[in-house]
Amino acid sequence: MPSEIPLSKPDITDLEVQMVVRTLRSGRLSIGPMVEQFETLVATRAQCRYGVAVNSGTSGLHLVLQSLNIGPGDEVITTPFSFIASSNCILFVGATPKFVDICPRSLNMDPARVQAAIGPKTKAILAVETFGNPCYMDQYGSIAARHEIPLVEDCCEALGATFKGRPAGHFGRAGVFGFYPNKQITTGEGGMIVTDDHRLAEMCRSLRNQGRPLGAPTGPTMGGSPTGSWLKHERLGYNYRLPEMNAALGVAQMKRLDEIIEKRHNVALHYIRRLGGHPQLVVPTVDPESIMSWFVFVVRLAPSYTAEERDRVISGLRRHEIGASDYFPCIHLQPFYREQFGLREGMFPIAESVSHRTIALPFHNDLTAAEIDQVAQALELLIKQENISRV
Ligand SMILES: Cc1ncc(COP(=O)(O)O)c(C=O)c1O
Repeated sequence: MPSEIPLSKPDITDLEVQMVVRTLRSGRLSIGPMVEQFETLVATRAQCRYGVAVNSGTSGLHLVLQSLNIGPGDEVITTPFSFIASSNCILFVGATPKFVDICPRSLNMDPARVQAAIGPKTKAILAVETFGNPCYMDQYGSIAARHEIPLVEDCCEALGATFKGRPAGHFGRAGVFGFYPNKQITTGEGGMIVTDDHRLAEMCRSLRNQGRPLGAPTGPTMGGSPTGSWLKHERLGYNYRLPEMNAALGVAQMKRLDEIIEKRHNVALHYIRRLGGHPQLVVPTVDPESIMSWFVFVVRLAPSYTAEERDRVISGLRRHEIGASDYFPCIHLQPFYREQFGLREGMFPIAESVSHRTIALPFHNDLTAAEIDQVAQALELLIKQENISRV
């Protein structure tokens, strides 16, 4: 049954529809000017020299780790509190994730624990800007530099965020953005690698395009038969290309990015004002040096609440036709991570405690004050009911 107030909702204008239709009619549906424009727009926003568009954030992360020659026997330090793809990409290349616990305020990895986790097998730090918060990215960068290993920024949730004035995507050897429909901007499916490293960008371009030669022209001869380097494959590559229609949507959405970020900021502020004083709720806190680019709005119940109680509150919200979710269950407790790496409860207590109590509330560009009030009232009522059933 569709929720009356959905958890998330893409915001697509008529102009954006027209851009996609115009691209469809142009006859150039793959490897063309829209991908190039989109790459330039996103790379410029992240203050990086190169952008490499791909068909998802997950494929972008995979290509970056492969281009950095990370493989079997290597360890990559990362967070257990994230969407599964930020760790799966480490498994794709045959390496092992080394999880470190998070800081309960920013929900990003605790820099001291990152430092302590570095060992002889550590080949990279893969840091996630959780829910659009770039906090500590500079510290991860310094730790990585000290140990002469790359920092990879999984900024899939953080397009447009800044920390100490530097944009998300600019802290690591490479950053990867994602454009799934719940993100700040969407291309339907899509992702973007950003980097200042020419060779890394070229390797990612080759790998996304079936391993075609580095620096080769990116498309077959239009209107004629494929020639030259188009049918030469120098390495095992993938088809991770972003279609022109998706890139056209991305180009049009990028032009509204500032407006979108501001709308989301206002929605988040409204929620914080409305729910901030509730004694049984923890609302997001933002480091004064972070400018969040809000991806989702996630509150959590106070530490005394159990995961079962939280799940009942989420079910209750859904019964009120309000979208809600438990972002994120810990990655190390997902069945195949437990089995493959012998991971279990209690290993990352802060991430586990947070993840047992989180509730993602409806969040999108056009959420109104009245809708926020409706969500807040339902949430307050459901918490009250939980409290009554405790006594
Ligand atoms: C932190 C993080 N990493 C990676 C991804 C993967 O992106 P995609 O869904 O575009 O493959 C996401 C997407 O939600 C994400 O939130």
